[in-house]
Amino acid sequence: MQFSVTPESIAEIPADCLVIPVWKDGGLGKEASALDAAVSGAPGRIAASGDYLWDIGDTHLLHGPEDCAAGRILLAGAGAPDDFGATEAAKFLAGNARIVLARNMPQVHFALADLEANGPDAQWLAARLAQEVEVAAYRYRATKASTKREAVLEGVSAPALADGLEQALRQGQAIGKGMNRARELGNLPGNICTPEYLASHAGELADASDNLSVEVLDEEQMRELKMDSLLSVAAGSVEEARLIMLHFKGAADEGKPVVLVGKGITFDTGGISLKPGLAMDEMKFDMCGAASVLGTVAAVAELQLPINLVGMVAAAENMPGGKATKPGDIVTSMSGKTIEILNTDAEGRLVLCDALTYAERFKPACVIDIATLTGAAVAAFGNHANVMLGNDQALMDRLLQCGLDSLDRAWQLPLWDEYQKQLDSNFADMANIGGKLAGTITAACFLSRYTENFSWAHLDIAGSAWHSEGARKGATGRPVPLLMEFLLSLPNKD
Ligand code: BES
Ligand code: MN
Ligand code: ZN
Repeated sequence: MQFSVTPESIAEIPADCLVIPVWKDGGLGKEASALDAAVSGAPGRIAASGDYLWDIGDTHLLHGPEDCAAGRILLAGAGAPDDFGATEAAKFLAGNARIVLARNMPQVHFALADLEANGPDAQWLAARLAQEVEVAAYRYRATKASTKREAVLEGVSAPALADGLEQALRQGQAIGKGMNRARELGNLPGNICTPEYLASHAGELADASDNLSVEVLDEEQMRELKMDSLLSVAAGSVEEARLIMLHFKGAADEGKPVVLVGKGITFDTGGISLKPGLAMDEMKFDMCGAASVLGTVAAVAELQLPINLVGMVAAAENMPGGKATKPGDIVTSMSGKTIEILNTDAEGRLVLCDALTYAERFKPACVIDIATLTGAAVAAFGNHANVMLGNDQALMDRLLQCGLDSLDRAWQLPLWDEYQKQLDSNFADMANIGGKLAGTITAACFLSRYTENFSWAHLDIAGSAWHSEGARKGATGRPVPLLMEFLLSLPNKD
């Protein structure tokens, strides 16, 4: 898909469709009024007819307007101007992107000027336009023919409202594509998307970019490094574990990298602590943290951001089996700390702890891990929040702000010392579970014991990473927007 900025006046744009906002009172903004004047009043009459409430989602498609270079005009409700903020703008753009994608309109122009007047600025709108169009155009077709109309959208333009809109469109498109990459990897079934599959996917990403390189540790190499906690998760599976590193160098060698660590459990049966059968298929999504890391690295490489970044994926399949880890087994993590595995279903923290220890060697500016870690996060926050804990409040404050700006919000939970004792074990340095209460916090307490030497934030995305219901069932691509907002906002390290 091509995104561009056009200086042409709206009636002269030779698109298949112009998307024109209409406010709740039927009023048109400046850009829409200019069009209305050029085409002798039809849009204005429809807008003011009273036939529509012009809430976001209400639309009227006008064919063959006279004195207009475009083939159609889509009048699109934008709601009340006073209520029009970033959330509404995103909803407007996403909804209308779906409408044009469902029709035969390869070239579309979005009249953003009137939205800008009442909501977020032109840069934000342009970036979001590209992001929403990309995300709306995604179809899962790896293992079935899509039931939706194939995307016929080829070109999307926006008016030249400000400088730098091309750049904003480029960034938004890269974020959308990064989300789609994460969604595709998440949606692939566990028998296709294995740890080795993730490793070769990372390899393909590295091949496509000069300053992106890949490093993959196999089980033998991890055994030498004494990553017995990570290896204990894969012990029951015929699929070998992998620790995958993507190194992106966009800044000088001395520039400390941001390190992203994704939980990559390609299927989580629970292991010997077997999960109940209901909806267990959704545990193919237990690698969505890893997928978000790969999507983010791909977007950063595409944009060639002036930063150093390491994307890590701790990949394993959690299965029962003759060699599987059993409740009560004790393993020694790479750090030397021993862990009593009381529940083999608390496996995410077991792969992450060794990955976090390994991350120290990259001398990180900060480490952010992303993991579908606890059912408790879903119970407490449903599908809307990325749940955040960590050891550096300044880092977390920035992530909170980036979540607001990207509409991929995070909410912080406390990581108080009082919770740590729930991990006490009579037989090891710690247990891998902290009892019935505060499951999201005790999971982070476990990780906090492996992050003492760097600035760290943890994102539990168990609720935000996928939708469970009906036609929407599938990976969301979150928190790629939050991570990209953070990486785009880093001070230039050149
Ligand atoms: N992958 C799950 C967490 C999960 C469950 C995410 C449901 C989304 C929906 C994780 O590995 C897990 O099983 N966690 C356990 C931990 C418990 C045994 C302490 C959980 O949350 O039940
Ligand atoms: Mn589990
Ligand atoms: Zn899991």
